[in-house]
Amino acid sequence: MTVIAPASDCGPLPEPPESWQYSLQVPHDPLGPAIVRSTVRMVLGRHGLGDLADTAELLTSELATNAYRYSTGPASVRLKWTDDTLRVSVWDTDPNLPSPMAVEPDSEQGRGLLLVRLCADNWGRYAMAERTFGSGGKVVWFEISQAR
Ligand SMILES: Nc1ncnc2c1ncn2[C@@H]1O[C@H](COP(=O)(O)OP(=O)(O)OP(=O)(O)O)[C@@H](O)[C@H]1O
Ligand SMILES: [Mg+2]
Repeated sequence: MTVIAPASDCGPLPEPPESWQYSLQVPHDPLGPAIVRSTVRMVLGRHGLGDLADTAELLTSELATNAYRYSTGPASVRLKWTDDTLRVSVWDTDPNLPSPMAVEPDSEQGRGLLLVRLCADNWGRYAMAERTFGSGGKVVWFEISQAR
C-alpha cells in the first residue's frame, strides 16, 4: 500500500513565481469571449490575485468581444504578471487601431474602450508588423496594478 504523506510533512510550499505569463489562442467563434473571461478569472484566482479579477475580467471581456466583432480572424490573449502589475494584451487580425468614442447618454454602444480607459491604470494599442507571426493586425492592451 502506498502512503501519501500529508502536505505538512513535505516542507514549506515553494514561493509562487514573481512573474508569469499565459497565452490563449482564440478562434473566431462567439464562444471565445466567455471562454476568455473564465480563463482570466481562473488564472488570477489560482495566483492569489482574486482582488483584480472583477476589473480584469470586465476589461478583457470588452477587448475580446471587440476582437470577435471587428475582425474576421482568430485572436489571442496574453496575461502577463510582473512588478505587481497585470498586463492583458489582446491581438486580432484587423489592422485598424481603435479609440474610445464620444458616447451619447442614450447610446447602447461605444462603452467598451471607455471602460478600459477609465478602469485600467494604463492602456494602449499598437500595430503588429506583417511579418510578426505572419499575420499583422494589432494589439490592444491594458494594465492593472495590485497597489491601487
Ligand atoms: N478590435 C477592434 N478592431 C477594430 N476596430 C475596433 C476594435 N475595437 C473597437 N473598435 C472600434 O472602436 C469603436 C469603439 O469600441 P468600443 O468597444 O468602445 O464600443 P463598441 O464596441 O462600438 O460598443 P460596446 O463595446 O459598448 O458594445 C468600435 O465601434 C469600433 O469601430
Ligand atoms: Mg466594444
